[in-house]
Amino acid sequence: MGRGKLILIEGLDRTGKTTQCNILYQKLLPDCKLLKFPERSTRIGGLIDQYLTDDSFRLSDQAIHLLFSANRWEMINSMKEALLEGKNIIMDRYVYSGVAYSAAKGTNGMDLNWCLQPDIGLLKPDLTLFLSIQDVASNAVKDGFGEERYETLKFQKKVKQTFVTLLENEIKKGDESIKIIDVSGKDIQEVEALIWEIVEPTLTTEIDHDNFSFFQ
Ligand code: TYD
Repeated sequence: MGRGKLILIEGLDRTGKTTQCNILYQKLLPDCKLLKFPERSTRIGGLIDQYLTDDSFRLSDQAIHLLFSANRWEMINSMKEALLEGKNIIMDRYVYSGVAYSAAKGTNGMDLNWCLQPDIGLLKPDLTLFLSIQDVASNAVKDGFGEERYETLKFQKKVKQTFVTLLENEIKKGDESIKIIDVSGKDIQEVEALIWEIVEPTLTTEIDHDNFSFFQ
């Protein structure tokens, strides 16, 4: 029996990632797990939650970056186990968010390459879908936007640029697992259909039980 598939949905805040992850998860049940990063229920996740929601909680940019990464590392064993049991995993954010949001801060010494280092060795998704929007400003009027630390228009614009640079670099280097989907002006069902078109062939391709890719 082949292993399950690791499928990641990435995007800026409030682009519909979570909705689409849930839809995909429901479609793939019962042989599916849904993971959201940051995973706020762990101790490390609790610190991350506090940092995101409480401006008085101060951490250096390097420290919070490493916590986000540690939060992924603490899930690695359960992720591997599920995949080996033949379960698919749908992820809402992962390494690319980690790199794009931290590098977008422009902190001295924290470039894309520095930001990727602590994630080297983590499982690499079999498929990454980046939900892209043309107009970041229109997104900022959505309900709830602005409640967390990173939800300012200026920062989101920088994150978008950083995400696009990062992912386009990987695609140029020949990474075929990354797909960019423009969701501007599309409703939930339209995006769902676009996602399914890409996910379905990935699901039907058999991957050997012990064949994993890792971030390098
Ligand atoms: P998330 O809970 O996905 O927020 P939302 O549901 O609003 O999209 O993520 C919280 C914030 O954390 C979000 O602004 C992105 C940021 N983030 C990082 O900065 N680094 C990371 O490694 C991850 C996973 C998220």
